[in-house]
Amino acid sequence: MAKVERLSDRAEELLKEVNRDKIPRHIAIIMDGNGRWAKKRYLRRVSGHRKGLEAVRQAVRAAKRLDKVRFLTLYAFSIENWKRPPNEVSAIMTLLEDYLCKEEREMLDNDIRLRYIGRIEDLPESTRAELLRVAKSTEHCESMMLTLALSYSGRAEIVDAVRKVVAETIEGKDHSMIDEECFSSKLYTDFMPEPELLIRTSGEMRISNFMLWQIAYTELFIHPVLWPDFKDYHLIEAVIDYQKRERRFGGIEQVE
Ligand code: IPE
Ligand code: IPE
Ligand code: MG
Repeated sequence: MAKVERLSDRAEELLKEVNRDKIPRHIAIIMDGNGRWAKKRYLRRVSGHRKGLEAVRQAVRAAKRLDKVRFLTLYAFSIENWKRPPNEVSAIMTLLEDYLCKEEREMLDNDIRLRYIGRIEDLPESTRAELLRVAKSTEHCESMMLTLALSYSGRAEIVDAVRKVVAETIEGKDHSMIDEECFSSKLYTDFMPEPELLIRTSGEMRISNFMLWQIAYTELFIHPVLWPDFKDYHLIEAVIDYQKRERRFGGIEQVE
């Protein structure tokens, strides 16, 4: 049985305000601002990425504590991020390997299954091997699924899905068979529901090629905090804010 981790005092206090019947099943996060965090402290960008991993731990623990969050998806490295200087890219990959190695125990203890989405074939061999290893060792865990988006881009995902659809579509076949449900099933995310809540840190008002198809009706929560400063209570705050919203999905306000 997974253990219950105590959060920071502030997060524990906020937890009392959370409506247990309206917890998002899937929270996705665009973790942004590591470089700026480091720059503000006259440090190298890699220090920001290192500190960012502590924030990942905070987010995972807070989501786990909310109990009914079954899927947490973290945008960790985009396809466009390969354009960064090679030393930054390799530092990120090494940090990721360290994170996976160190956190495996915590994931197992907390019944968290690790998964990934993205073109992971582009990752360095050692990073990919570690990712696959921990994904395998946590395969039996089922309380929460932690998915890392790595070498991920929403457009590439859609293109890959189109390729799958085309490969399966025999000439002359009835194309009305290709509907939204069928298309969704070809995305990398076929094993998870669409996120109800998307958090982005560092105050940037953009999506940066993340889950373009899946977030059609997702609630957005943009916070100015730079990712390395993200704490467990920020996630709880986002959930409380989400709970105050009315999701209409193009319909009209529900009246009694
Ligand atoms: C997010 O932080 C982490 C990755 C994209 C890997 P950034 O590295 O983008 O930090 P900023 O946005 O430059 O501050
Ligand atoms: C988005 O952040 C990608 C990740 C968090 C992995 P970026 O820093 O790459 O996005 P832009 O360049 O600000 O749009
Ligand atoms: Mg950034």
